[in-house]
Amino acid sequence: MTARVIDGKAFAARIREEVAGHVARLKAEHGLQPGLAVVLVGEDPASQVYVGSKGKQTVEAGMASFEHKLPAETSEKDLLAVIDRLNADPKVHGILVQLPLPSHLNSDLVINRIDPAKDVDGFHISNVGLLGTGQKSMVPCTPLGCLMLLRDLHGSLSGLNAVVVGRSNIVGKPMAQLLLGDSATVTIAHSRTKNLAEVCRGADILVAAVGRPEMIPGDWVKPGATVIDVGINRITTPEGKTRLVGDVDYESAARVAGAITPVPGGVGPMTIACLLANTLTAACRANGLPEPKGLTA
Ligand code: GUN
Repeated sequence: MTARVIDGKAFAARIREEVAGHVARLKAEHGLQPGLAVVLVGEDPASQVYVGSKGKQTVEAGMASFEHKLPAETSEKDLLAVIDRLNADPKVHGILVQLPLPSHLNSDLVINRIDPAKDVDGFHISNVGLLGTGQKSMVPCTPLGCLMLLRDLHGSLSGLNAVVVGRSNIVGKPMAQLLLGDSATVTIAHSRTKNLAEVCRGADILVAAVGRPEMIPGDWVKPGATVIDVGINRITTPEGKTRLVGDVDYESAARVAGAITPVPGGVGPMTIACLLANTLTAACRANGLPEPKGLTA
């Protein structure tokens, strides 16, 4: 058996087009342009690339993009003052503070300063609590993207065994909540889980988000299962070249799975597409307008 390859790149392009259509209508009918502010502290090269892509795709969707690049030595007080200004700015509907922050800054304090209604990352403690209790919230972008791919593939997730490997606040925990919200039977596993291979073999849906290159081999995958690989790890090959790999050993897993996301081109492009969707949702909610269907959990 060879797995169906889930084309996250094409799916994300369709989401972006859909968002752009809604944005054009919001402008034409309500004179409203959704705006996203991204705050980057320091010069981390990977973060600079992400922030650049976010800004570009925001503008391509017809939204306003506000970039705040602050020096690495920015004080907590100054960063909080920037967030306060963005919270009060009516042109800004979404605020994202790129993580990780330099170590002298308290990320929890900074994230929790964002107005929860503008927290398009879904990291604010209010949004975490709303998601955990099944209430309307802003949902973290990467798990939301995974959920969209799974709904598209399966229709209903009701009663399916889902195993999430990884317990981060950004992916593992919210992913588990979203799967539970769609009535899957959910197990959260991680690097300390006993018999991890056995646990994974029970999964109809296996979501890998541990950040360890190719940790999950094909013989941990149930035949016909859907594998969603959130990992993006840069490795150096024996020939000295670098390449991106996921948390799943793609070659062996693709021989067993029913469907699998590649790395790159699987989950990755969905994250920014969902960030745009969340910004649109936030702008609609802030203006008392109906939110677009199919772009939220
Ligand atoms: N750094 C890596 N992923 C993310 C993300 O989804 N949001 C933010 N704010 N920072 C990140």
